[in-house]
Amino acid sequence: MNVLMVTSECAPFIKTGGLADVAGALPGALAPLGIDLRTMLPAYPALMPLVARGTEVASFGDLPGGPGRVVQVEAEGLTLLLLDAPQLFDRRGGPYSHEGGHDWNDNHRRFASLAQAAARISFDGLADWKPDIVHAHDWQAGLTPVYLKQPGVPAPRSVITIHNIAFQGRFAAHEGQQLGLRWDWFTPDGFEYHGDISFLKAGLVYADRINTVSPTYAREILTPRFGMGLEGVLSARQSVLSGILNGIDTDVWNPATDPALARNYDADSLAGKAANRAEICTRLGLDPAHKGPLFCVISRLTEQKGLDALAEAIPHLVANGGQLAVLGSGAPELEAAFRSAAEAHPGKVGCHIGYDEGFSHLLQGGSDAILIPSRFEPCGLTQLYGLRYGTLPVVARTGGLADTVIDGNLAALRAKTATGFLFDDVGVAGVTEALDRAIRTYASTDDWQSMQRAAMSQEVGWDSSARAYADLYKEVLSE
Ligand code: ADP
Ligand code: GLC
Repeated sequence: MNVLMVTSECAPFIKTGGLADVAGALPGALAPLGIDLRTMLPAYPALMPLVARGTEVASFGDLPGGPGRVVQVEAEGLTLLLLDAPQLFDRRGGPYSHEGGHDWNDNHRRFASLAQAAARISFDGLADWKPDIVHAHDWQAGLTPVYLKQPGVPAPRSVITIHNIAFQGRFAAHEGQQLGLRWDWFTPDGFEYHGDISFLKAGLVYADRINTVSPTYAREILTPRFGMGLEGVLSARQSVLSGILNGIDTDVWNPATDPALARNYDADSLAGKAANRAEICTRLGLDPAHKGPLFCVISRLTEQKGLDALAEAIPHLVANGGQLAVLGSGAPELEAAFRSAAEAHPGKVGCHIGYDEGFSHLLQGGSDAILIPSRFEPCGLTQLYGLRYGTLPVVARTGGLADTVIDGNLAALRAKTATGFLFDDVGVAGVTEALDRAIRTYASTDDWQSMQRAAMSQEVGWDSSARAYADLYKEVLSE
């Protein structure tokens, strides 16, 4: 079976969040299941060296954003189909926004071009390959299923995965009219959303299957609280909606071999974590003699992640014997809050504002626990990395966090199944209650170590979820 993935990010080439990790790891997990997969991705500046050594396999003079060619290249075990359209993608800044943080004003043309190029390749096929299924990710690939639905023309089946329903790709109608879409579908039953065009809604309405990245989030997005205005569209299509939990790349994230760690370790040699903790203390100016647990945060600093509540709880965390290391960037007010917490609590709170892949591995390797107080979390990957590294997740009970962490209550502690701490209310009260439980449990070395061992033996790889994707593909093909 041939599958064309369409995505705006893919690790290790270009990453702003978990979508990149998923797009980078899922193809390798699907390959042993007989799935021949190629990944369509814009040729951003970081990809230009790969474009230079690739082979042109298709060329279009008239994508919505002008001309573009598709260059195929093998890299990091993936077969990439890079959309080389320098006027759209070869520019300084992030994949979606300027260095200043504002979205590019031609994002509608940029990502419509990605979707249309994917659809045209799917209709025509390449010289040696034609997809049976097109798998689009998030709003950036959301128009792909629409371009594929041309009445009377046979097309591959389509699947769309929602990684985060908060980002919907909403543009003014006049911008939508420039994209070569059938404008008679600009209706509330089609891709119109309150007078605008919504790329994500388009994908949700026209794809043959919809899935999201955890079973709990698949239920949550049917409600007004989590559906962010699309709960009605999803409820109407509930029969084709499912949730498949993300996995992680257990080779890249392996404490026994991770080159970013000061010392490697495994479930039988957890003492190795101490050397990593010492390295974190040196890097962030934290007190190396501190006795209580070291908590870490590795996150985009946004409203979604609930870190405003954590910032408020810092005095309590410190007063009760915790230490905190923060790695993240995003909202200026949150960056400022963590910077000033580090100043207010020297040796106890440290922060690195920025994006640093290597340091994120070291933090997982040397911290005792990772804090994820998200208001919503479609899946979340950092708790999975935490489990794998024996760094116990302290998480809000939502989305994929609820599906992957077993709360350290008395029964679970006795049964030796607990792997972390869950709380319900994302506010200072909820966060401090969970922190207190973690700090108390840490004081009992036996309980803590037994939780670490349970965490490290939890299945967090892609195997079973890759099988679930393969089943989904088979099901949609057989219709
Ligand atoms: P989201 O996609 O919502 O940001 P996930 O937990 O799914 O959340 O994925 C976040 C990914 O980005 C993880 O791989 C995490 O380690 C990484 N990450 C987030 N912030 C940083 C940072 N400041 N430096 C390095 N890696 C980061
Ligand atoms: C999104 C979500 C995150 C999820 C990631 C990968 O960015 O916010 O929860 O893990 O996508 O699916």
